[in-house]
Amino acid sequence: MGSIPALSAVAKRLQGKVAVITGGASGIGEATARLFRAEGAKVVIADVQDKLGRSVSADLGGPTDCLYVRCDVTSEPDVRDAVDTAVSHFGKLDVMYNNAGMSDPLLRIAETEKSVFERVLAVNLTGAFLGTKHAARVMVPRGRGCIVATASACSVIGGTGTHAYTASKHGLVGLTKNAAAELGRFGIRVNCVSLNGVVTPLSRGALGVGEEECREMFDAMSTLKGTTLAAEDIARAVLYLTSDEGRYVSGHNLIVDGGFTSAISGPTSIVNYFDRQ
Ligand SMILES: NC(=O)c1ccc[n+]([C@@H]2O[C@H](COP(=O)([O-])OP(=O)(O)OC[C@H]3O[C@@H](n4cnc5c(N)ncnc54)[C@H](O)[C@@H]3O)[C@@H](O)[C@H]2O)c1
Repeated sequence: MGSIPALSAVAKRLQGKVAVITGGASGIGEATARLFRAEGAKVVIADVQDKLGRSVSADLGGPTDCLYVRCDVTSEPDVRDAVDTAVSHFGKLDVMYNNAGMSDPLLRIAETEKSVFERVLAVNLTGAFLGTKHAARVMVPRGRGCIVATASACSVIGGTGTHAYTASKHGLVGLTKNAAAELGRFGIRVNCVSLNGVVTPLSRGALGVGEEECREMFDAMSTLKGTTLAAEDIARAVLYLTSDEGRYVSGHNLIVDGGFTSAISGPTSIVNYFDRQ
């Protein structure tokens, strides 16, 4: 039977590891870059926001510890170069976090432009496919590695995001399971993490509201009350999936949503019933 190491032995859970984080210049990606650095990893931030990406990189130790590379995840040469840069600059790739994402304005399906639908799929799903493909290319020969994607509550339920966003996030779960099935024999684990709502530029833009209103909307969504989901909570979930603590977890969609997707709301909800008593 394995023993559980003392806390001091697991203090730096990604010591010596190298990670690429797409969308690492802002929000959940930035929070994860900060936590990964604190846990001993070298990080490549791959994003399209150069100024922000460079400033996060500088704040996390600069090129010796945290490198910014411009990478549009819809471009295969860009994603290939980001992965190759991690290997040439830091010597290897242990963790690929396919986190970059976007949403489109909430419109009825009859009003949704094909080009907009395709753009969201390109960033959220094709981007993660390219990240997984090129991570696998360098991880398979080493016989180890972890790949994680940021999905969403929209990966398991309908009616809470745009058509394109919901389709892209459902697709991510399929990609995760299929890649886990193929890559498991090479010691590579593939997972995704799903959340209901964190206040970031993406979520504020999608809802068209300010920071406070956005937070109130997200708090109202979850069945868990008295606490607010933060980007750092998702970073910790990603840390679990990518560290040894998650060493037997693969093909999993880890849902961090305060119970949002596990309970129904509305007239048939038990909460509604109890409130009427
Ligand atoms: N914030 C939420 O409530 C929420 C909920 C569910 C899922 N998510 C998912 O979390 C992930 C991170 O989003 P966030 O909320 O931190 O938003 P954010 O806006 O703070 O960060 C998204 C990052 O992705 C980058 N990005 C966008 N398009 C890109 C491209 N083509 N190539 C490279 N980088 C690109 C942006 O520049 C930005 O830095 C996304 O996949 C999003 O769908 C967020």
